[in-house]
Amino acid sequence: MVDLSCKYLGLQLRNPIIVGSSGLTSSLENLISIAKNGAGAVILKSVFEEQIKFETEKLLQSDESKMQSWKNTFQDIVSKDEFYFTEAFDYLSNYASEHTLNQYLQLVKDAKKAINIPVIASVNCITQYDWQYFAKRLQDAGADAIELNAYILPSNFERSGSEIEQVYFDIIAEVKKYISIPVSLKIGYYFSSLAQTVKKLSETGISGLTLFNRPYNPDIDIDTLEITASNVFSNAEEYSQSLRWIALLSGKISCDIAASTGIHNFETIIKQLLAGADVVQMVSLFYKDSFEVLPEILLKIEKWMELHHYQSISDFRGIMSHSKVLYPAAFERVQFIRQYSSIV
Ligand SMILES: Cc1cc2nc3c(=O)[nH]c(=O)nc-3n(C[C@H](O)[C@H](O)[C@H](O)COP(=O)(O)O)c2cc1C
Repeated sequence: MVDLSCKYLGLQLRNPIIVGSSGLTSSLENLISIAKNGAGAVILKSVFEEQIKFETEKLLQSDESKMQSWKNTFQDIVSKDEFYFTEAFDYLSNYASEHTLNQYLQLVKDAKKAINIPVIASVNCITQYDWQYFAKRLQDAGADAIELNAYILPSNFERSGSEIEQVYFDIIAEVKKYISIPVSLKIGYYFSSLAQTVKKLSETGISGLTLFNRPYNPDIDIDTLEITASNVFSNAEEYSQSLRWIALLSGKISCDIAASTGIHNFETIIKQLLAGADVVQMVSLFYKDSFEVLPEILLKIEKWMELHHYQSISDFRGIMSHSKVLYPAAFERVQFIRQYSSIV
């Protein structure tokens, strides 16, 4: 019998397959099915930073006179000092939003009671301002860890690469003030120096990085001249971007790595583990097929391990990474030249 168990974000997983964040992970019924079919862990659908802020604003603005009277009362009770008043008022805002975000917190609580695999909550964020208190609520609800999906498209002509990248560091620093459970960061690949930035991010105290988020893919409808979304779901050929970077980064950064995007079958899972991923996240496959494909995928991984005489994941994880290649870019260039030169 081979052993598929592994560690991710300091959590013990029975195997390295995580069902990633999506609409599929937003109902208790699905979470039960995910656990029943053998996944190692699950990441809940993200709460959006804007959702947290919007709900706070909405509640506070719903009755202007009531809000003003609350403000006055609070200022009287707490302090005339602007600093303390602001803090108290923030508390009120937080309280207000907590009520409207209760469903999400309830899902975390219910999931923790109903399933015996790690439940990772998720927040989709683009700034470090005024939402992190919610991470504490997620921790209190019982989330085993939090994945931050931070995707900032560097499209602003006025902002330098380092200015934009600083936001990621600020987000992590703010969130870590509020919680002690592990934090992972899910990012895209639009960074001026991806390797260096990922290394620095891995040294901030986060426990894991998810490589990579799959961006929204814009398209144009040439009949209506409207911008549309295309290819909402990945296909089974889309894994090479994360495979390349996991092979390049594994063994050189200071946190775990979750592979994400285009992982649709057992072969790709094995490739990602060979490249150095600690776990994989899968989503689109489960929109196409049901969670019931999971047991068969797990069985195929076991068979492959038996065939290659591997007892555990750690026996082969990372053996195909670039960690022993001194100049990976030069290595890639040789492969590139060889490939293009061989096609006439
Ligand atoms: C319908 C749908 C909803 C998604 N919702 C979220 C989300 O709320 N939070 C998140 O971090 N990622 C979300 N994702 C992205 C997935 O977690 C994943 O990163 C992406 O689909 C690539 O993985 P895949 O190739 O296995 O599908 C969503 C993806 C899909 C298709």
